[in-house]
Formats: sequence, C-alpha cells, structure tokens
Amino acid sequence: MFTIITGAQFGDEGKGKVVDLISNDYDLVVRFQGGDNAGHTVTVGDDVYKLHLIPSGVLLDTRVLIGPGTVLNPEVLVGEIDMLAKNGIKIEPDKLGIDAKTSIIMPYHVELDGLRESARSEKIGTTKRGIGFAYIDKIARDEVQMADIADSKRLLTRLSELAPQKESGIRDLGGDPSIVMDKGLIDKYMELGEKLAPYITDVSYEVNRALKTGKNVLAEGAQGTHLDVIHGTQKFVTSSSTVAGSACSGLGVGPTKVDKVLGIVKAYITRVGEGPLPTELNDSVGEQLQRVGREFGTTTGRSRRCGWFDLPLLKKSILLNGYTSIALTKLDVLSNIDSIRICVGYELNGEIIDYPPELTYDLAKCAPVYEDMSGWESEITEVRQFNDLPKTAQNYVNRLEEMMEIPIEYVSVGPGRAQTFKKQ
Ligand code: GDP
Ligand code: IMO
Ligand code: MG
Repeated sequence: MFTIITGAQFGDEGKGKVVDLISNDYDLVVRFQGGDNAGHTVTVGDDVYKLHLIPSGVLLDTRVLIGPGTVLNPEVLVGEIDMLAKNGIKIEPDKLGIDAKTSIIMPYHVELDGLRESARSEKIGTTKRGIGFAYIDKIARDEVQMADIADSKRLLTRLSELAPQKESGIRDLGGDPSIVMDKGLIDKYMELGEKLAPYITDVSYEVNRALKTGKNVLAEGAQGTHLDVIHGTQKFVTSSSTVAGSACSGLGVGPTKVDKVLGIVKAYITRVGEGPLPTELNDSVGEQLQRVGREFGTTTGRSRRCGWFDLPLLKKSILLNGYTSIALTKLDVLSNIDSIRICVGYELNGEIIDYPPELTYDLAKCAPVYEDMSGWESEITEVRQFNDLPKTAQNYVNRLEEMMEIPIEYVSVGPGRAQTFKKQ
C-alpha cells in the first residue's frame, strides 16, 4: 500500500503528528520534497521532538528515507541524528537511508537566500535555510549531490567548477564571496559527508521494491498545498512542489501505485511569512487562536498568522491533491469561542465566488463570506471518541465534512498520541 500525506493549507497543519500516529502500519516512511524549512513536531508523553529532515516515522519501528527530490543540509541532519541519540534513539544506516542524488544545501545557498531576501522590496519571508537557491541549482544542473560530499575528491572538483558562478552571485548581492571556497567550511562538509556516507541508498529502488513485495510505504509531505511552487500563491511560496503528485515524481513511483492520499487540515488556518490569507484575524480571536494553538513557527520561531477555516482554499487543495480522506487537527484550539466562522466564499470585484481566483494578486483582494456556527465552552482535549465531543463541536466537524465532500477519517484534539481518534 502506498499512502501520501500532504498539508492542505499553508503548512504546520500537524503532518508530523499524524505521520507518527499511523507509522506503525508502514514499513517505510519517506520524505519526498522540501528541506529543513519544514518543522514537524511529534509529542510523545512529555517528550517533544522537532524534526526538520528526518521523517516523523523515526520514533517507531519503521525505516525512514530521504528522497532525491529533497534538499538536504547535512549539518542539520547530523544535528538531528545526534539529538535523537541523546534521547536514546539510535539512527543507524539500517534505520535511515538518504538517496545518493539528494541535493545538498551548501553554505552559499543559505548566504544567497538571506542576501536575496534582504534585497527584496516586497519580502517573501523565507526561512532563510537556502531552500530556493538549492532548488535553483538542482534545476540548473549545478547542484552538489549527497554522493559528492561523501567523496572529497568529487566535492572539490565540483566546487571548483561551480565557484566562479556562486562567488559572482554573492558579490552581486553585496555579500562576501569568500564563503564559497572557505577551507573551514569545505572541511566541515567533507566531515559531514563522511559521517553520512553509510546511509546512502537508492530511494526509488527501495520504495518500488517494498511496494512490489506487498509492504506499506508512507510518503510524508512538507509545507502545504498553497505553498506549492507551481500551484500556490506565488511569489509567496516555497521552492518545491508540495502537492501529492510530487511524491510520485520525487520518489520515482508511478501514479498507478497510489492507494491513499490523506490531507492534513487544521480546524482553522495559519500562515507563516508573507502572502495573502483572506480570513486572517487581527483581533482578540486571532490572538486567542495563536496563544491557545501555540502558533509559533517550529523552524524560525516566528508567530503564525491565524484565521478562520477557508473552504475555497480547501476546495482547491482537494482538487490539487485528490484527497481520499482528511485528518482534521487542532479542533481543541477552537474551544471557548462563542461563534465560529467558516469562510464559504469570497467577494471579489463585487461578485461572490466559491473557489479561489487563480492569481495571488486577486486572492489578496478577496473579502471572505462567512457562515457562522455555534461554538462550545468545554475543554475537549480529554475526549477520545467523536460521539463524546460537545454536540456543537460535532456539528462543526460534520459541516466541514459535508462542505469538503471528503470523509474526515481522523479528528485531533491535542498534540499527544492519544488525542487523535477515528471519526467513524
Ligand atoms: P507540521 O509542520 O504540519 O508537522 O506541523 P507543526 O508540527 O509545525 O505544527 C503543528 C503543531 O500543533 C505542533 O506543535 C503539534 O504538536 C501541535 N498539534 C498537532 N495536533 C494538535 C491538536 O490536535 N491540538 C493541539 N492543541 N495541538 C496540536
Ligand atoms: P512545514 O513542513 C509553514 C514558508 C515560509 C515562507 C515560504 C518560503 O513545517 O509545514 P522557504 O524557506 O521555503 O523558501 O520559505 O514558505 N514555509 C513554511 N511555512 N510550514 C512550513 O513547513 C514551511 N516551509 C516553508 O515561511 O513563507
Ligand atoms: Mg511545521
């Protein structure tokens, strides 16, 4: 069985938590795009793990893989392996595999990301992890791959070929080009390459072989649908394709092999960084969602902007991903709000529409049209089955399900493993 999980909004929907929850049913859990711009939180009892690169299935008895469609900062990965070791979780090569062709985020990518962002008059609000510049190099065929840093001779040859171009790019943006061939940094990358060399594998072969022999594979998406570089709210997007189809291209698995596509949906909406968010709340309710939901970026610590559930954006996510079911997270965060609003359409240039306009520029002009529902006053974090939720909370979930026209498979009422249950 091949299952793909993606975020249906602007990221941070709770993908890590859901992946951890269902990983026991899978033999392989695989990242297919993005890099350490992602921050996936898994809470196990009192322990909180913030994972940026290692798939969230790592805490369970499953092998985890990083596919060639990702961009990998080796320093972050080694830091994550060390962090897990300190918590008693040993990450040996039989536990983690990294594709030989994975693009490496070099120090000059991080530098260029920071310089470019500072130079923009209208910011994107990137995580400054070098993601965009690493993907530029992948597409331009100027990348450094995982196999290159594992072989010091190859790394030096590759870097001397790339250096003039990278140096002039940094110089043009007013930075210090000496970072590109800095001996200390190159030595560090060689050391990191040596450490990671035993983990190198062929991900598409492993995944396809697993599927052929009847094993279960879970593809863990990063970011969210509307941050997709092709279909998202450009230019306020990340630099990879975040929709379900990207799992097939990123992992090298044919679309005929996909059995299930699970969309992770927050019971409201958040966004980090710039870009339109039609239902954004700049009032005490927005402040309450942020405080109760602890809406601070896992990677950058920035406050996440919060808003009401946006159905038009969700409708687009459903089309772009072909979801077969939904996991609805953070329902508990909506407790103690008198009236909960669902954005069911937008007003744009005097017309009411129920689907987002194709251009970001137009989305930014959309005014939400709301349907109101009664809230609930009791805390619901202790609830363990759908029927025990307050009737008004059940009504809210049922109404969303009806409007999305996709079954809600899971409902989540807290960060812990026990706080998620099947709806039916
Ligand atoms: P991801 O990037 O999609 O994996 O999501 P993040 O981990 O960045 O952000 C989701 C945050 O919400 C994390 O801190 C989770 O522990 C937390 N979380 C997940 N599900 C729930 C839930 O149902 N209720 C509450 N209160 N927190 C949740
Ligand atoms: P997870 O996997 C939320 C946002 C950044 C910025 C834009 C581009 O935890 O859901 P980038 O550094 O990727 O070039 O930044 O994308 N962004 C995320 N927002 N969750 C994420 O990942 C994100 N990864 C990138 O804030 O607006
Ligand atoms: Mg996150």
